[in-house]
Amino acid sequence: MSSLTYDDIRIEEDHGIYIITIDRPSALNALNLKVFMQLEQALDALKEYDELKGVIITGGGQKSFVAGADISEFSSIPPGGAKAFLSTGNRVMNKIEGYHKLVIAAVNGYALGGGCELAMACHMRIAGEGAKFGMPEVNLGILPGYGGTQRLPQLIGKGRALEMILTGEIIGADQAKSLGLVNHVVPAGGELAKAKEIILSIADKAPLAVEKIIASVNYYDADLHQGIGFEGDQFTALADSHDFKEGTLAFLEKRKANFTGK
Ligand code: CAA
Repeated sequence: MSSLTYDDIRIEEDHGIYIITIDRPSALNALNLKVFMQLEQALDALKEYDELKGVIITGGGQKSFVAGADISEFSSIPPGGAKAFLSTGNRVMNKIEGYHKLVIAAVNGYALGGGCELAMACHMRIAGEGAKFGMPEVNLGILPGYGGTQRLPQLIGKGRALEMILTGEIIGADQAKSLGLVNHVVPAGGELAKAKEIILSIADKAPLAVEKIIASVNYYDADLHQGIGFEGDQFTALADSHDFKEGTLAFLEKRKANFTGK
């Protein structure tokens, strides 16, 4: 494992389980391009490890799993360029979802926007009691562009997904569990242990069967990637709007956005 060293993610191994920690606590572990690239490299490198039993993705620091896409990067999106901007993140989300070994999100603190989308791309989600989930993109004048409009309805149903995405409401771990967004809620700090327990309980099953079951369950909605493509077109249209610029600027300037519908 010594060859796997990165700036913004940390990797530790425990009995063949690899724990990837997104580690930018000063930005609540927001996902920038560099984090996505490092995640991708790590997942590709881990694929080569014969002893790999499963992967856990979690967030560094006390407060956050991942608070979303890094809003400070949005200002660099050129007109019409949002779909290209999204492509790296979506490639990584799809890589996680299609991974040959179990990938579990251990959610400690905020899982918002792209963070909730990252958790949803994982095969299962374990939440600590203090975890908080939400899709607040609407408050920025944008929509969830990393598969959230597609994966959330798959997990919790269309009506409940629309409510979460349209209101941007942030919900707690117990509510997320009752909606079907998370598999288990555990006392805060117990997420990693529970995720490891699940991976170990599956580790002695037939590896090929596990791989094919993941692939088959992913096939459950074969139109997912088409849906994500459509979502990207809508994101692109929004990314060129005045309201998106105003929404992200307002967040960075810590004030209320003044949306005009343009
Ligand atoms: N991107 C960049 N920086 C972020 C961030 C994000 N998504 N979320 C938090 N931060 C930064 C803050 O700017 C702040 O930085 P400074 O200390 O330099 O000011 C630091 O992290 C701590 O955040 P707060 O001071 O805001 O902490 P808080 O406890 O008051 O609030 C929070 C926590 C409710 C999570 C709040 O930070 C927040 O609302 N974050 C944004 C959540 C969000 O809108 N996520 C969706 C992003 S868009 C997206 O993900 C699009 C997509 O699908 C493609």
